[in-house]
Amino acid sequence: GLGTITIPVVVHVIYNSSDENISDAQINSQIQVLNNDFNASNSDINQVPAEFEGVIANSDIQFTLADVIRKSSTRTSWGTNNDMKHSSEGGSDAIDPSTYLNIWVCNIGGGILGYAQFPGGSPDTDGVVISPQYFGSQGYVQAPFNKGRTATHEVGHWLNLRHIWGDGRCNRDDFVADTPTSDRPNYGCPSYPTAHCRSNDMTMNFMDYVDDACMQMFSEGQKARMRAIFASGGARDSFVQ
Ligand code: ARG
Ligand code: ZN
Ligand code: CA
Repeated sequence: GLGTITIPVVVHVIYNSSDENISDAQINSQIQVLNNDFNASNSDINQVPAEFEGVIANSDIQFTLADVIRKSSTRTSWGTNNDMKHSSEGGSDAIDPSTYLNIWVCNIGGGILGYAQFPGGSPDTDGVVISPQYFGSQGYVQAPFNKGRTATHEVGHWLNLRHIWGDGRCNRDDFVADTPTSDRPNYGCPSYPTAHCRSNDMTMNFMDYVDDACMQMFSEGQKARMRAIFASGGARDSFVQ
């Protein structure tokens, strides 16, 4: 096996207000959440119901903060067209996406918490984008998305994970066998059991849409799908020497 996979992270903070120029402490709180969530060492893991306990995964992926780039901007919202990833558009260019996870923290607007690029896309836009009020677990954060799980979810996409409901009806797949089929996202904090498609939804999976306090796990199947992209010939094998 590949053992522990270490991902160096570059955080680009692009701010209009002083609130959006988030503190180093807020950035470090996000790195800590990623390390907890991808190693099943999050303190709320015991909230996973017995039905799904057996497939809780320690993905053995570690994140280290490599650099923080700060840039002030006159722009108050950025949308999702990747302008924040280009200095020619007032943003900040990606640092070597073959060896760094780039995270842009800027106000996306439109009620969007974050978005990600899947493996295999254009290098200059590779990475994830998170609005500052949903990044980290302390500082300028806003409930109910104040526990750093937006980055956990978006980094899941960056590592090739699909939404738990397969973005479709009950017959659409997330290409992971141990996550039950569903036909829709769950929101808020669903009570267990919540069933669609004749099986209980794994609503507490990081790849559903529930509140930060109500998502706690990746599954073994998701772990295998994430780690496969680091194997030789995989889309992110350049991170592993
Ligand atoms: N891309 C999703 C959105 O913007 C992220 C959802 C993350 N969920 C969360 N509980 N933090 O809606
Ligand atoms: Zn998503
Ligand atoms: Ca599945």
